[in-house]
Amino acid sequence: MIIAANLKTNHTRRSTAEYLDKVERYIETNEIIDRAVVFPPSSALTPSRRTITVGAQNAYHASNGSFTGEIGADQLDEFGIKTILIGHSERRHIIGEGLDVVKRKFDFFANIGYEIFFCVGEPLEIKEAGFDAVMTYINKQIADINLTYENLVLAYEPVWAIGTGKTATSGDILEVHKAIKNIAPKLLLYGGSVKPENTAEILSLEGVDGVLVGTASWHSENYCRLLEESKKVSRSKV
Ligand code: 13P
Repeated sequence: MIIAANLKTNHTRRSTAEYLDKVERYIETNEIIDRAVVFPPSSALTPSRRTITVGAQNAYHASNGSFTGEIGADQLDEFGIKTILIGHSERRHIIGEGLDVVKRKFDFFANIGYEIFFCVGEPLEIKEAGFDAVMTYINKQIADINLTYENLVLAYEPVWAIGTGKTATSGDILEVHKAIKNIAPKLLLYGGSVKPENTAEILSLEGVDGVLVGTASWHSENYCRLLEESKKVSRSKV
């Protein structure tokens, strides 16, 4: 299982270090067997810890160059970062990254061997149009992506469930995960209002290999609770 924390635009350099210290201590003293991955904001990037992979929430698809306001692979290299989130709905819908930019990012970082957490998921109006519309939408998001890339982890994050407190139902998750797994047999995380109270239920679903968590991961205590919840499930799922 992968329990990933997307800190989004939260935490400073100092509070991220404190967060990682606390989580690391927790993992080491509580026999956590699942994989912890944390995506801090760019200003707080730091090398991975023994038990925590640190990844980038975003970077430009270049090693360096004239891309004002962006960071590239050279800046990630400074911290030994080799994991990146691509295609998050906030980058697609708020920042305005289209399919072409997402694909260029994917190709660049795949080409240099990064582990890529690639997010897909439909907005509310597509969800309301039914399952076929959802899968047509998701298919478009992955159409130009090399789904056989060995370091690819997929994440299904329905846009309407992100930061809204409205988690997808178990039925929704099962149905979409099964369909995505049929297209791409890769590790597949669920994201969207995951919290300690629903983590075990979500993780126990077939086709769910972990969770990608925003809001409920921002306090280290909560993130540790998610890891604790996952411990119960992993043992019974293996
Ligand atoms: P929330 O957990 O706040 O819904 O955010 C999910 C997310 O966007 C993770 O990438």
